[in-house]
Amino acid sequence: MSTRYQSITGTFDILPEAYDSGGTRIPGTPAWQYVESTIREVMGRYHYEEIRTPILEPTELVARGIGEQTDIVTKEMFAFERGDTRYVLRPEVTAPVMRAFLQHHLEQRGGVQKLYYIGPCFRAEKPQKGRYRQFHQFGVEIIGAQTPRADVESIGLMMACYQALGIGNTRLRINTIGGVEARQKYVEALTNFLEPYRDDLSEASRRRLEKNPLRILDTKLDHEKEILKEAPRIVDYVTSESRQHFDEVKARLTDLDISYEEDPFLVRGLDYYTETAYEVHSEHLGAQSALGGGGRYDLLAAEIGSDRPVPAVGFAAGFERMFLALEAEDVDLPGPQTPDVFIVALGESAREWTFETAHELRDAGVSVHYDLKARSMRSQMREADRQQVQFAVIIGDQELEKSAAAVKHMPSGEQVDVPFDELADVLHGNELP
Ligand code: HAM
Repeated sequence: MSTRYQSITGTFDILPEAYDSGGTRIPGTPAWQYVESTIREVMGRYHYEEIRTPILEPTELVARGIGEQTDIVTKEMFAFERGDTRYVLRPEVTAPVMRAFLQHHLEQRGGVQKLYYIGPCFRAEKPQKGRYRQFHQFGVEIIGAQTPRADVESIGLMMACYQALGIGNTRLRINTIGGVEARQKYVEALTNFLEPYRDDLSEASRRRLEKNPLRILDTKLDHEKEILKEAPRIVDYVTSESRQHFDEVKARLTDLDISYEEDPFLVRGLDYYTETAYEVHSEHLGAQSALGGGGRYDLLAAEIGSDRPVPAVGFAAGFERMFLALEAEDVDLPGPQTPDVFIVALGESAREWTFETAHELRDAGVSVHYDLKARSMRSQMREADRQQVQFAVIIGDQELEKSAAAVKHMPSGEQVDVPFDELADVLHGNELP
């Protein structure tokens, strides 16, 4: 069978079993479910509540929230118009969560809102290993807390997720980017510093020098990295309050035994950050080495229409890069789930019995599979084998007559007759009576 249609470049199907797509292993749904449930379990321990926001958001929310000059907004949005409304497929979830917080007055629930999400995001980036156009994030947003403890809790929670999943080789990088004024002063200082090197910069960096000089700090080019060695550092431009906040974040990380590196050039690609910014990198990921990142964003709420400030901090992490790290670290992920029981039916009456009995056994909580195609006994047994079931229940005219099925315990090969009315009980266990 062939099809004229293929999934769009930079997107992928998630199938019941893992497969290779252009050199990248796409794990099967059981692996995704396992990772998701592990994340939910960790979120539960930290008492974060799930929030689900739409995939479609107003373009303006994203543009204002993330920043008009960011790469995401200028180049990577999947945006379209319908009537008078401009829509965007969400490129991230922080601005939508803050929108939902403001829209539903979640502060009225009292205390700090600690929210988490899991779901797809969309960015029209150049697809490559670990970089997709539809990718999947999990993340948290702590809304309403200004303390450095909140910053550290978000970092600790991210690390706890990686730990629970068995990803060990991670490095946490942190920086402070202060408040708006500090940023403005710093952008000026950085621009003045880079101006004399303009001719040595790549075309992209020259463009950024005009529009968004902070992005140059993210350069992957060695000769630009060399130039930047002498560049001013944002930490020298932040207020004493910001520095104090940052010092406390570092002290509390140490309290929790979370090791970190200070990276004076870490500014992140979204404009809403203030104060703490952080990223977690994996040694295994090469160019796309950020497993996840986040920081504080105390000004986002005002930027998207709140009349009062709402302090907030959070992170998001990509599933696809997490799977690359899991693979590199040889972590075993669950494969396809197997049913407990396969019913092998011979003849039409047996098929009729199977059809009804499967229904009853399933009602009784047993996971049952059987052949929907009326194939031969051999192919049914082969399938029972392939499915690695615990029990094969074999049923033909003779068994129907005796009102007892032949039940084969597949791991041991042992087989006994089980009266129909005892089947559910026997199949619930792991052994034959
Ligand atoms: P971000 O750094 O843009 O931050 O994305 C977070 C993570 O999403 C990245 O570290 C990466 O693992 C994954 N990711 C991003 N783009 C792609 C892509 N094209 N393909 C595969 N994975 C990707 C945010 O999105 C912020 N909202 C994080 C945050 C939450 N800050 C505060 N709260």
